[in-house]
Amino acid sequence: MAAISRSLAPALFFIVLFCFASVPSLASSDGFLQCLSSAIPKQLLYTQSSPSFTTVLVSSTWNPKLLTPSTVRPLVIVTPSSASHVQATVVCGRHHDVRIRVRSGGHDFEGLSYRSVRPEVFAVVDLNKMRSVRVNRNAATAWVDSGATLGELYYAVSKASKRLAFPAGLCPTVGVGGHFSGGGFGMLLRKYGLAIDNVLDATLVDAEGRLLDKKAMGRDVFWAIRGGGGESFGIVLSWKVKLVPVPPKVTVFSVSKSIDEGAIDILTKWQQVAPSLPEDMFIRVQVGVQKQVAEFQSLYLGTSGALLQLMERRFPELGLNQTHCKEMAWIQSVPYSYLGSAATVEDILNRTYSLDYSNKGTSDYVREAITKDVWVKIFGWLAKQDAGIMVMDPYGGKISSSPESATPFPHRGGVLYNIQYLNFWPAATNGASHVKWLKDFYAFMGPHVSKNPREAYVNYRDLDLGENVVVGNITSYKAAKVWGEKYYKSNFKRLAIAKGKVDPHDYFRNEQSIPPLVAGQ
Ligand SMILES: Cc1cc2nc3c(=O)[nH]c(=O)nc-3n(C[C@H](O)[C@H](O)[C@H](O)COP(=O)(O)OP(=O)(O)OC[C@H]3O[C@@H](n4cnc5c(N)ncnc54)[C@H](O)[C@@H]3O)c2cc1C
Ligand SMILES: *[C@@H]1O[C@H](CO)[C@@H](O)[C@H](O)[C@H]1NC(C)=O
Ligand SMILES: *[C@@H]1O[C@H](CO)[C@@H](O)[C@H](O)[C@H]1NC(C)=O
Ligand SMILES: *[C@@H]1O[C@H](CO)[C@@H](O)[C@H](O)[C@H]1NC(C)=O
Repeated sequence: MAAISRSLAPALFFIVLFCFASVPSLASSDGFLQCLSSAIPKQLLYTQSSPSFTTVLVSSTWNPKLLTPSTVRPLVIVTPSSASHVQATVVCGRHHDVRIRVRSGGHDFEGLSYRSVRPEVFAVVDLNKMRSVRVNRNAATAWVDSGATLGELYYAVSKASKRLAFPAGLCPTVGVGGHFSGGGFGMLLRKYGLAIDNVLDATLVDAEGRLLDKKAMGRDVFWAIRGGGGESFGIVLSWKVKLVPVPPKVTVFSVSKSIDEGAIDILTKWQQVAPSLPEDMFIRVQVGVQKQVAEFQSLYLGTSGALLQLMERRFPELGLNQTHCKEMAWIQSVPYSYLGSAATVEDILNRTYSLDYSNKGTSDYVREAITKDVWVKIFGWLAKQDAGIMVMDPYGGKISSSPESATPFPHRGGVLYNIQYLNFWPAATNGASHVKWLKDFYAFMGPHVSKNPREAYVNYRDLDLGENVVVGNITSYKAAKVWGEKYYKSNFKRLAIAKGKVDPHDYFRNEQSIPPLVAGQ
């Protein structure tokens, strides 16, 4: 009798622990909701029974495959309008054992800001109502709230001054909160680096519900939130950024080359030329959007005359001439480059995203130019049925000049370019063959890209690189190294130590959050 109960006890203990850790009882959910209602106005809370729950949940998502009837949804969506609402949500969550996922623009490739991969009771803090941009034109700085989109940030900056800009991503609907958390790069990356290279201060709500600025959060945590990935360290409410100067006119062009027009030779040369051009010049390439065509898209911080001279000297193979070039204000280049030549500046304020297509993406970094014979094979892959696309952003210049440890983002010196792989399929179909193409192509690319680790960009999140394992009630550091070192290289350990300082109990957690590393582990 005694022997039996002794051997059963650990098993029972384990079951009890497990239930507590993953699925709080109904009572604690009720307690959580009551706690929220006592601190936050009712109209800012959307429970599953609220008529607008689904509308609010779907707003700002961009990938229909991540919201299906079987998706694990939040118990409640909180749409705070002030820092105190965010603090109260954290305090209630801690007290009643309900975790939080935070959403800014909702563009996470895996939807981790609003869904859980495994059954879990959680709340979403959606920062959609906290999105102001306050520009100080004379100081060339701005405070931007995490819930703003990149389009809203760019628009506000250009309203304040036509000679100022901010270096971040191309897509205007991407949210500042998630984008800055992973680094953030776009057409100005060679001149001004990443978004986070231009962050001066931030405000963070930590796992104790405290509101901290740069000084109060301390050096390690301020380092960690600038590129260490979303969710892990708390909820960043706003960022103080340094704005950057741009000339009154920039020049853009888009030149397409088919295989018959020499796409493969030009692309092979692009790999060496694009990362070593003057920093004012940025030429990215998309391959596969049009079948068997490479599309070279550029932003030059100067006039078309100077651009044509530069291209004649450095990259005559592209055959650029005056008819390809368009001069415009920097802010006009934002819709022009991403939404097409018919788009207006106001279109970058449109937060609605078409939900016609589902997608899957992943990324690579290239440090040694890929040879021409391999490019021939790559074009073969891109010609297959259900193939996707590759988008390549050249590095070099400012993004590559900081040491790897300057921020958690480690893909700096020596990187020639980033590859983003994407595949799309109509939302009504299951996309299995498209996902298979992406996986097979990624496997094919292995020998031709960075190795040990095979680097990846956290903002192009891919759960196939690895998912967290929770041991006891804490995310395992050892298991997380598998994906963590791909995103952060040797900065991963320092991130885990920072996490151990700011959130040792691992309250802010998702499938790819940073595990806490505390002394003795
Ligand atoms: C169409 C499209 C185009 C893109 N273009 C670019 C590009 O040009 N350059 C580039 O670098 N990237 C680009 N990205 C990637 C983009 O930067 C990331 O997906 C980014 O994480 C999205 O931020 P979000 O706020 O919209 O996402 P969300 O889904 O809201 O958040 C992403 C992650 O960050 C966490 N998070 C969100 N807000 C906060 C916060 N305030 N505090 C703490 N954690 C938070 C979330 O919990 C989640 O884990 C693009 C993505 C898409 C879908
Ligand atoms: C510019 O190049 C394109 C081909 O890319 C060609 O059709 C056009 O005639 C050229 N224009 C001039 C002015 O040379
Ligand atoms: C915003 O974008 C969506 C999706 O592309 C589009 O359907 C809608 O018409 C746009 N709204 C405005 C006001 O332009
Ligand atoms: C697990 O961690 C959460 C978050 O820190 C905490 O609220 C909860 O009490 C822990 N559960 C157990 C069973 O230790």
